[in-house]
Amino acid sequence: MDPTAAIDAQAGTMRAVRLAPPGGIDGLSVEELPIPDPEPGDALVRVRAAALTRGELDWPVDRLPATPSYELSGEVVAVGPAAGGATVGDAVFGLSGFDRDGAAAEYAAVRASYLALRPRTLSDVESAALPLAGLSAWQGLFVHGRLEPGQRVLIHGASGGVGHLAVQLAHWRGAYVIGTAAGPAARSVASLGAHQVVDRAAARFQDAVEPVDLVFDTVGGETLAGSADVLREGGRLVSVAEEPPADVAKKVTSLYFVVEPDGGQLVELARLADEGTIRPAIDRVFPLADARSAFERVAARGKHGKVVIEVGHA
Ligand SMILES: NC(=O)c1ccc[n+]([C@@H]2O[C@H](COP(=O)([O-])OP(=O)(O)OC[C@H]3O[C@@H](n4cnc5c(N)ncnc54)[C@H](OP(=O)(O)O)[C@@H]3O)[C@@H](O)[C@H]2O)c1
Repeated sequence: MDPTAAIDAQAGTMRAVRLAPPGGIDGLSVEELPIPDPEPGDALVRVRAAALTRGELDWPVDRLPATPSYELSGEVVAVGPAAGGATVGDAVFGLSGFDRDGAAAEYAAVRASYLALRPRTLSDVESAALPLAGLSAWQGLFVHGRLEPGQRVLIHGASGGVGHLAVQLAHWRGAYVIGTAAGPAARSVASLGAHQVVDRAAARFQDAVEPVDLVFDTVGGETLAGSADVLREGGRLVSVAEEPPADVAKKVTSLYFVVEPDGGQLVELARLADEGTIRPAIDRVFPLADARSAFERVAARGKHGKVVIEVGHA
């Protein structure tokens, strides 16, 4: 198929969520915008679902107005030049780059190398919920955390978007998994494969947990600050939530990282989903027109898994 013809066929407008300056939830609206042109290396995706991450409205502050959501599922409807690997008609999922408009829209232009074929056994909504959180968990545990079978890992925020996938991945890797969550959300964590669950609303995790090889933090604040106390000598503290405080960084090996798109890791996540080893939990689904409610839910406590926007097409 001539890719240029496919692009022309898509010319027109689309509905997209926009975040206006100065940002924050009051800056959200749904607007009619031109469908983006795929740049060299891009695939144009007709978005079926786009998932949200707590705090993400604070990320694009230097390039507003912008479209939020950085993970999606959908079909490739056009490809730009040199978009090797992506083919029109592919059902895909992926993490879009953080430096350009995201996926809370009817169409999104995404680097083709940031996409992979979506899991066959997951729905559009579940597929969209996997890339950002799944890659964050994968990279936090296995790349930065170097988790090995038989090691002990403590995962903070174990019922949350990143944390619930981290519990499943660490269990698959053969680690002894301890999850923390606060209040009723703690009840769901054992069913994800955690060997021990600590309800942070009822107990200090420092009093309930024997030394661990790795702490993977998705909560930040005091939870992150107190985590050096439960590391064994030579253990590591890895956070996606925020930079570890200076006094913690002096005491233990610690790091904060930003998740990177990785098509190869997505293929592996899709394989694990299709064999039933991991499954994204869906907290709630909202239509594109109700993006504001979706972002209000993302900011709330007591979630289980991911908040997703489902994108209908006329
Ligand atoms: N650096 C990166 O590349 C990267 C990638 C992904 C996510 N993140 C960040 O990592 C964090 C976790 O992301 P996520 O998608 O897993 O979020 P999430 O599901 O909202 O949060 C994870 C956990 O944080 C606690 N939490 C929830 N809402 C909170 C609030 N309003 N204030 C304080 N704590 C709250 C909850 O734990 P309890 O119920 O146990 O209190 C929740 O389970 C977010 O800050 C997100 O922006 C960063």
